[in-house]
Amino acid sequence: MVDISVKLSGLQILDSVSIGVPQGTVTGLIGPNGAGKTTVFNVISGFVTADSGYLKVDGKKQKHVQPHHLTKKGIARTLQGVGLFPPMSALENVMIGGSSQVRSGIIAQALAMPWTDVEQNRLRAQSMAVLGELNIADAANRLPSELPYPIQKRVALARALVSDPQVLLLDEPAGGISAADISELADLIRSWVPKRTVLLVEHHMELVMEVCDLIWVLDAGKVIAAGTPDEVRRNP
Ligand SMILES: Nc1ncnc2c1ncn2[C@@H]1O[C@H](COP(=O)(O)OP(=O)(O)OP(=O)(O)O)[C@@H](O)[C@H]1O
Ligand SMILES: [Mg+2]
Repeated sequence: MVDISVKLSGLQILDSVSIGVPQGTVTGLIGPNGAGKTTVFNVISGFVTADSGYLKVDGKKQKHVQPHHLTKKGIARTLQGVGLFPPMSALENVMIGGSSQVRSGIIAQALAMPWTDVEQNRLRAQSMAVLGELNIADAANRLPSELPYPIQKRVALARALVSDPQVLLLDEPAGGISAADISELADLIRSWVPKRTVLLVEHHMELVMEVCDLIWVLDAGKVIAAGTPDEVRRNP
């Protein structure tokens, strides 16, 4: 993203932010609470429109991305927290992430379930496979509220993965999960590159230092540092 500025409710949330995410890397985005990290994700995924600046994808200037075109463009994101749909089973939540022909809102589509049987069966099988890869196949038919928080986080991750995205935006995937789960998550994230490009927002510094090739540091809406984990560590 190049020179992106965003004002929300009269406040300058991002101030001419330029962040590069090299293809096939894990790139970290760190900074204190309120720095604007989630807003960066919201700009990339089209939930927030920048007042100025632009996105560049594969060297091409990109117009405003429609959030419901994300999957088609090979981009998937997780939400800070979990953001699962409460009335739907884990499996159904994951299936939402695989529905690329979304015409209206994602929730509207989910509730109407306008998939053909063939599409739906294919999507169900894919979704089960991803749940299996994340070792939570037995959670498939449970509601999010019936699952422990770390499992809910995995379901949210599965929902992002089921579309087999080229670019994955992860907003605090390690929030609220155990050290063992974080170590597993680190291996998982590294296993995705270079096939996928990952942009990771995370407060858990050990995870960031372990998995990132490159780190951007944001504070009060501005980039204040960037570099490899070693460079950022030496310049706190
Ligand atoms: N819709 C909005 N209207 C007004 N201010 C907003 C809006 N959304 C976010 N903000 C403000 O923008 C700033 C940056 O928020 P953002 O969620 O991007 O931070 P963050 O770096 O993700 O923080 P955290 O680490 O706590 O998740 C905060 O001060 C927040 O209060
Ligand atoms: Mg945030």
